[in-house]
Amino acid sequence: MPGHKPQAPFTLAIDIGGTGLKASVLDATGAMVADRVVVKTTYPCPPSKMIDDLAALVAPLPPADRVSAGFPGMVRNGLVLSAPHFVTLHGPGTTIDPGLVKQWAAFDLAGALAARLGKPTRVANDADIQGAAVVKGKGLELVITLGTGVGTAFFYDGRLLPHLEFAHHPFLKGDTYNEQIGDAARKEIGNQRWNKRVRKAVATFRALSFFDHCYIGGGNAKKIHGTLGSDVSMVDNAAGILGGIRLWDESHIAV
Ligand code: BGC
Repeated sequence: MPGHKPQAPFTLAIDIGGTGLKASVLDATGAMVADRVVVKTTYPCPPSKMIDDLAALVAPLPPADRVSAGFPGMVRNGLVLSAPHFVTLHGPGTTIDPGLVKQWAAFDLAGALAARLGKPTRVANDADIQGAAVVKGKGLELVITLGTGVGTAFFYDGRLLPHLEFAHHPFLKGDTYNEQIGDAARKEIGNQRWNKRVRKAVATFRALSFFDHCYIGGGNAKKIHGTLGSDVSMVDNAAGILGGIRLWDESHIAV
């Protein structure tokens, strides 16, 4: 931002994805103070490798006072409850390895990152973090992220509601949202049919929650054709990083 003098505290914001790992440093106003660094997620990816890969990714970034990380699975109190991509041998949708399931179960990701990076660290679900960056704080707002998996986060008057894992909830023909509108499905059926399914999914969420507004982000949001209604908007994928600062703002996310 030209003319903007970066203000402390600085937050190292990490967006952990099934396909890529991204990070940047944000100042107190949420402005990025360094270009985003990105690397592909490689498999198999046990927790120790994830920590090594993240440490290498963020090494060139300027120093920060604290760390926020968004994780593509269920997280509670910094512990990983589910890691749908990282329990697979070769990446999203491939064979699940019992050894990896064991290693990721209740893994203290916040503790491990804090120990490795030497800074206080908070970790939350990626859609929750992305959502915190985009909601306006008015009424019931739903944030859906369309990427490798399908993320969802509900906010009421700006406060995150307890996370519900819709990604693995049956949606059409016994298939889950992940299976019907995740990236593997889009690649398999093509953008046109995938668009139809996304419309159906948004209509289902509308009927389920009577959301006041729905935001759609994630790498595949740009593949949506036309409008999904005046109560639905597309948001920039950068929110996955920008929301990192909100993890430290108690009014948005309780961790
Ligand atoms: C996970 C969610 C996550 C979403 C987006 C799904 O596979 O189960 O927890 O938010 O992907 O990454």
